Parts: sequence; C-alpha cells; structure tokens
Amino acid sequence: MSTLPVAVASDHAGFELKELLKSHLQELGHEVLDLGTNSTASVDYPDFGFAMGEALDSGLAERGVIICGTGIGISIAANRNGAVRAALCYNTTAARLARQHNNANVLALGARLVGTEVAKDCLEVFLATAYEGGRHDRRVAKLS
Ligand code: RB5
Repeated sequence: MSTLPVAVASDHAGFELKELLKSHLQELGHEVLDLGTNSTASVDYPDFGFAMGEALDSGLAERGVIICGTGIGISIAANRNGAVRAALCYNTTAARLARQHNNANVLALGARLVGTEVAKDCLEVFLATAYEGGRHDRRVAKLS
C-alpha cells in the first residue's frame, strides 16, 4: 500500500461526508491530505475538483476521494486533469469495478444520494481492490 496520504476534497454539500470519511480513513490507518472545503459555507465544486487534480498531478497523493451533492460536478472537474481517473460510485460493485477495470485513482461520491454506510463501504472497497491489468491496460492507456 502507498505510504502517501489519501487526498480528500469536497464542496459545501459534501463537507459533512468528507469529515466523516476523514475519520474513517484515519481509523483504517491512512494519513489524510484535506484539500477543503472547510465548512458548509457555499463554494464552487470545480475549485475542489481542480485541487484534487493538482494534488495527484504533483505527486502529493496517489488516491483521492471527492464529494459534492451528486458527485457529478466535482468528478467532471477532477477528470479535466489528465492525472485523474475519477469514478462516480453509488455502490460497492461500482467501486470494485472502477478499480479492477478502470484503475480509477479517485472515488467520487454524491453526499445527497448515498448514505454514510454505503459511502464508507465504497471507500473501503475502493482502497482495498487492485487493478486487474491485462485486457484493461490498452483501454486505460487510451485515457491518457
Ligand atoms: C451544490 O448545490 C451542488 O450543485 C453540487 O454539490 C453538486 O451536486 C454539483 O454537481
């Protein structure tokens, strides 16, 4: 497992879930790099998706979690950085396949659409599942 921290970022809609998942990551033994936001005051999700992209691109982290109300806006923003393969997941099957098939390096969650237990399970599965490689390599390479 990487010794680098897991980066987390959210907008205001994702702030409370981000805080909960930070604690969960620490319970699981991970260091956390918090890229904000730092309250429920209204902010713009692209700023935090871009911050995640910069954190991965600069090598500060290899894995990340991004959260907004739906998970959609912040994942669009993060995926504009070529270092990011962010996968919006609503269940653990999606989280597992995002790792196995897509080698996703960022888990995107919608705080208004998934419950906290589902979010914690998605995070655990995402971090514990390895990329399968093989037939997926050519396809993942084309994403770059
Ligand atoms: C904020 O109200 C909301 O639009 C944002 O969190 C996100 O869901 C956008 O995709």
